[in-house]
Amino acid sequence: MSSKVVASAPGKVILAGEHFVVYGEPSLVVAIDRRAYVETSLKEGGLRLDAPDLNLYWDGEGKLPKPLAPLKLVAEKLLEEAVKNVGLSIKVKSELPPSSGLGSSAAVASAAVLSISAALGLELSKDEVFKLALEAERLVHLNPSGIDPLISTMGGVILYRRDGGYVNVEVKVKPIIIIGYTGSREPTGVMVSRVGRLYEAYPKIVGSLFRSGGILATEAAEALKRGDLRKLGGLMDLNHGLLVALGLSTIKVDKMVYAAREAGALGAKLTGAGGGGCMVALCIDEATGARVVEAIERAEGEPMKLSLDLEGARREGC
Ligand code: PMV
Repeated sequence: MSSKVVASAPGKVILAGEHFVVYGEPSLVVAIDRRAYVETSLKEGGLRLDAPDLNLYWDGEGKLPKPLAPLKLVAEKLLEEAVKNVGLSIKVKSELPPSSGLGSSAAVASAAVLSISAALGLELSKDEVFKLALEAERLVHLNPSGIDPLISTMGGVILYRRDGGYVNVEVKVKPIIIIGYTGSREPTGVMVSRVGRLYEAYPKIVGSLFRSGGILATEAAEALKRGDLRKLGGLMDLNHGLLVALGLSTIKVDKMVYAAREAGALGAKLTGAGGGGCMVALCIDEATGARVVEAIERAEGEPMKLSLDLEGARREGC
């Protein structure tokens, strides 16, 4: 019935300020060169959702698998806006491991908004893509700060503050970013609730950790802007300490963090919601990056070498 529209959006790595950002503090985030792709085509009627990487499929029959709920929401909202009596077939592919802290669900949501809207002939601004992707994210975790769908939509490097907007950070020196993945993780919502309970139990102490995290993220953005990667690395180490204090790291993540530092990384920390997932190490040059990759492997993690992606959500092949 129609040609396909493919759109993609990048994942992300938080260099400073995860969790604190939920409480209104700034957070420094970079888009990465691993993307989620969503392909949409029009069909006679109904909705078909297909995520072969996750082994999930739904065509309106039976119970909707929970991870596909954000796609359904996006499709229904955009169909309503387009006032079109058509069906949609939507297929997702992702280079980002799901639930790893690399922003896979937000990348899928941003790419889906762009792909489905374009297939329906709607022209959305980047801000509209972000807002609908954020609404979809709310189905996955209840209180998202919005940092993941924003960076997936806009790309580049951003200092983000919930409700206070964001600033693009211009980068002089492209950092070498090495990720170590544990292979599994607790859901973001579980980790965010855990921090919430700790805050309730120790409001003054935990509140001051949040504020320190905010100052740290602002200084990290300034260091990156100046190209002072040593300072940025030091701030990442400090940030890891704050996340450990909040109970967000695990032995496996800590092992990779220490291994990366010993191998010469400028700094290393947990990234994302924690409870497993990923750590990130910053390296001065390719040779150190290679040593850090080996150190992560020895610490039984899965290494990934990443670069910044300055482009956010985009249509493919047009
Ligand atoms: O879901 P993750 O691992 O990408 O973490 C997102 C960052 C948090 O600050 C933990 C949550 C949020 O909504 O900002």
